[in-house]
Amino acid sequence: MTPDESKHGMWSNRWLFVLAAAGSAVGLGNIWKFPYIAGENGGGVFVVAYLFCVALVGVPVMMAEVLIGRQGRQSPINSMRALVQQSDGSKAWSLIGWAGVLAGFLILSFYSVIAGWGLYYIGQLASGSFTGVDGAAAAQALAALHSNPVLMAVFHTVFMGITVYIVSRGVVSGLERAIRWLMPLLFILLIVLLGYGVASGGFAEGFDFMFGLKWDALSVDGLLVALGHAAFTLSIGMGAIMAYGAYVPSSVSITRTVITIAALDTVVALIAGLAIFSIVFANGLEPGSGPGLMFITVPLAFGQMPLGALFGGVFFILVSFAAITSAISLTEPAIAFLVEEYNAVRSRVAISLGAACWLLGLASVFSFNIWSDVYVVGEKTVFDSIDYLTANIMLPLGALFIALFAGYVLPKATVMSQLGITSKFAVAIWTTSTRVLAPLGVLIVFLYTILPID
Ligand code: PFF
Repeated sequence: MTPDESKHGMWSNRWLFVLAAAGSAVGLGNIWKFPYIAGENGGGVFVVAYLFCVALVGVPVMMAEVLIGRQGRQSPINSMRALVQQSDGSKAWSLIGWAGVLAGFLILSFYSVIAGWGLYYIGQLASGSFTGVDGAAAAQALAALHSNPVLMAVFHTVFMGITVYIVSRGVVSGLERAIRWLMPLLFILLIVLLGYGVASGGFAEGFDFMFGLKWDALSVDGLLVALGHAAFTLSIGMGAIMAYGAYVPSSVSITRTVITIAALDTVVALIAGLAIFSIVFANGLEPGSGPGLMFITVPLAFGQMPLGALFGGVFFILVSFAAITSAISLTEPAIAFLVEEYNAVRSRVAISLGAACWLLGLASVFSFNIWSDVYVVGEKTVFDSIDYLTANIMLPLGALFIALFAGYVLPKATVMSQLGITSKFAVAIWTTSTRVLAPLGVLIVFLYTILPID
């Protein structure tokens, strides 16, 4: 039998798990990445594809991760190992855990670089250097940061340092208090930003861009990006939610909790998107202008608002905070595993992992300047390649195998008692989702991308 408590700690109640998991899910993915990839992929149809992927693949896989974590009560690798043993499955399933550790490491390397931009922007906004700027000046300010590898490396170092510090102290005790206040505050400031977007007159066009269905705007690759982003934004497919699931008390309802988390995450992304595209259209900017989109539009908006320096500074503090709570979850699968396996001291493991990840992150720093024409595949820099490999390939594959494992390998009785469902209807929905819908969703998108259809 698996224990009823994890040795790494336990969330005190359902809400704290919701906050922690939402802290993992809500991050740069929602505020920085979603708007810019929606912009690059033509808006409307992309957004709808993303919403479908969240519902069809995201929710069942997140449920599967929480239940596997809670049943195993260990790091994802060891939880998978234990469940494979209990269910006589093949040992190869625990590769899901290993692949997740690798994906988390790769993602954190570039995540920390972008989060570093956020940290840098706190001071920039608070000092009023964006007051009254136009789109061109805001773009120029970002270009100046990009052309300065030392400055970018410094903020990347600060972000990684903060993450390592918090992770060494343990996830459960450190995080809970902060998340409780800062997440709602972030939400409020996003609404302020949206309010500005509406007032600036670009809302109708922004709304139409995000929800108007222009079918020819979506490329085949865009569909894969939508699926990959659904996984990325919900933190699924690599064991982050599985690791957090291990600390969930047995009395918590997985279904309700997961739906709440997915809904929160989606609402934050949609509000961020609407706000940013309103600003884009009100100022005649380009929606498809790439990873800098948020760092151009948001300072521009706050620069024109009364008390903009204050609000803008606070906004970037909150974005950085959202990034930290996600970064922490990226390290948790690896750290919990190393602590279990080698009885290692948490802080030492955190420092070594952080140092290695920091080093790899430098390659992403250089992708924006001295290595901007070093391409790994096609026309992708190191930064683009790591982002593509993790979000669009590793996470969807991770999600696929987690769904299959939950659908076919885990004993039905275990699943049903974990989910607390008894009605035939609920069982049928779960079985169809994990056995058919989620795997088929991932497979169709993969095949569609690989086969020469267009
Ligand atoms: N979900 C986070 C975001 O949207 O910013 C990023 C992330 C965190 C991805 C944890 C994957 C993960 F395991």
